[in-house]
Amino acid sequence: MLIGAVGKDVVFDDGIKILNPSRVFLGDHVGFNVNCYVSAGPHASTNIGNYVRVGPMVTIEAVNHRFDRIGIPIYHQGYTEAQIDIDDDVWIGAGSVILPGVHIGAGAIIGAGAVVTHDIPAYSVAVGVPAEVKWSRLSTTPPAVVDRAPEKNTRGSEA
Ligand SMILES: CC(C)(COP(=O)(O)OP(=O)(O)OC[C@H]1O[C@@H](n2cnc3c(N)ncnc32)[C@H](O)[C@@H]1OP(=O)(O)O)[C@@H](O)C(=O)NCCC(=O)NCCS
Repeated sequence: MLIGAVGKDVVFDDGIKILNPSRVFLGDHVGFNVNCYVSAGPHASTNIGNYVRVGPMVTIEAVNHRFDRIGIPIYHQGYTEAQIDIDDDVWIGAGSVILPGVHIGAGAIIGAGAVVTHDIPAYSVAVGVPAEVKWSRLSTTPPAVVDRAPEKNTRGSEA
């Protein structure tokens, strides 16, 4: 599998599947937990920044089937594709689905089980189906005690 770019300290846990890997670009310190699926289109890239943590069973999907014609099986109608951008320091919760054309801004959090159908602003926490911004990290007080960040990205399951 020849991935378009893989930064340093990138971890894939068990079960990763990548479609059109030559159009997938990964930054540094990216971690994929178990059973993730990542696709780019044949032309549209999927760009994942630095320090992005991807929870278990997440789907990042840059391709849709076309379905605009009736009487022809969707199977035969071809595809559309749209670039996905996931900026630095994003955390994607378990089981989430990121759909074609979405841009997730830096520092955003996607809650478990979300379906992200549109852009998510930087530093926001988005949850639900479709994902909506629940609050902004910029307007909340950090916790009094902050755990030390892991020194080494040894397992994707730390995502
Ligand atoms: C999004 C998340 C980080 C927020 O955590 P939190 O700050 O502790 O949030 P809270 O539990 O206090 O919930 C705050 C509100 O958001 C809602 N909420 C939280 N997570 C949600 C989710 N995944 N989907 C829908 N609503 C969610 C809560 O119901 C609550 O709503 P309310 O204010 O209307 O009652 C967390 O809920 C989450 O989804 N974490 C992902 C965990 C995961 O996937 N771990 C795997 C390792 S990568």
